[in-house]
Amino acid sequence: MPSTTSEPAFVRRAGVLHAEHVPLPAIVAAVGTPAYVYCAGTIRDRLARLEAAFASVPHRIHFAMKANSNLAILRLLQELGAGVDIVSGGELFRAREAGFAGRDVVFSGVGKTVREIEQALDAQVLLINVESEAELVTIDAVAGRLGTVAPIAIRVNPEVTVDTPHAYIKTGEKGQKFGIPRDDVARLVSLVRELPHVELRGLGMHLGSQIGNADPMRDALPRLLAAIAAARAEGHAIAYMDVGGGLAVPYHAEEPEADIADYAGVVLAAARETGLTLLLEPGRFLVAEAGALVTEVLYRKHAAGKDFIVTDAGMNDLVRPALYQAYHRIEAVESAAGTIVADLVGPICESGDFFAKDRELPDVGAGALLAVQTAGAYGYTMSSNYNSRPRPAEVLVDGDRFAVITERERLEDLVRLERAHLQWRTA
Ligand SMILES: Cc1ncc(COP(=O)(O)O)c(C=O)c1O
Repeated sequence: MPSTTSEPAFVRRAGVLHAEHVPLPAIVAAVGTPAYVYCAGTIRDRLARLEAAFASVPHRIHFAMKANSNLAILRLLQELGAGVDIVSGGELFRAREAGFAGRDVVFSGVGKTVREIEQALDAQVLLINVESEAELVTIDAVAGRLGTVAPIAIRVNPEVTVDTPHAYIKTGEKGQKFGIPRDDVARLVSLVRELPHVELRGLGMHLGSQIGNADPMRDALPRLLAAIAAARAEGHAIAYMDVGGGLAVPYHAEEPEADIADYAGVVLAAARETGLTLLLEPGRFLVAEAGALVTEVLYRKHAAGKDFIVTDAGMNDLVRPALYQAYHRIEAVESAAGTIVADLVGPICESGDFFAKDRELPDVGAGALLAVQTAGAYGYTMSSNYNSRPRPAEVLVDGDRFAVITERERLEDLVRLERAHLQWRTA
């Protein structure tokens, strides 16, 4: 039975942490550690919540697959009727493999190559989101060469103040590389009229990530609406208004959930005013809370008056703490007797390789399993082979069943594309 559940993805039963109805130790016995474990019910629940919140207007939810691009996760969302927001030819390839049609795809990103634009046009994507004048001219040229007309949207940078937990996840502020500065939008809209192989079908924006309230949206929407009105006044047949992603999820236990009703209220009013089809690009909201990174404790260490818990997962598996100083809740898979203030660190040769610093953590020793929570978004997709570490396995749980959705990389995978015997060439 497929599960849809507003229960937390990971629940403790008889002292043992379960993913839905599967005990995590059973998954570890099958696939080892480190392993990403995702709960299908939570993904279904989050999509259903968003669908319900926006049901009163024509809309489409395009999962920002940079958050989690595993084929099984994509298939799950595709079967539930979502589309995708992509940012590369690689993501387009994955999306097609997962069964998404071209019309299910919007193509964002500040640096699309000619090859990627060709691929997007071949696939007949719904929209290519334009991020600069140079890109607009390139899309027109590529579409002309292919004898087609590219459906485009202009990504507006509304230049509003965005309050996010880390500067690296702001995008809709002045001075960011993303989108067209709002003062330049009118000029670009006019330029579209002179280009025969692009058709302006939408305007959009994406303000940033981990946005916990509707204030930036409230500030930005009038600017987007003004751009839409101006484009319509110039005769463009605008059909779509894209408000991007960015909905926050709680990473701390005591943090409140994002107020979807408030956010939706603000966006719905604007969507109704325009009569356009609303596009949403949530990434993190759909998958973050569905996933945990399960790791085994290798060692305890005491140095310079500090305690360290050393795990077999490292920053190559989950880089968010190192990159964004992100907080992830840590839970013992089997209840620990007590707690200890310690650093939870990985085996990588970097002092930035930690999951928690000076934190009250379960007092566990070697062999214990820990779950690094809220790791379903920007976890595996940002993982690497740094320190020549094979990437972890990924597992999907649905009710009382689980399936391996990505095998653990093998050592041979590390050198698969490398050549020991060089074939030297001259220019
Ligand atoms: C254009 C665009 N849309 C959507 C998203 C998804 O953001 P989030 O995962 O915060 O919902 C991103 C994230 O970087 C993005 O760049």
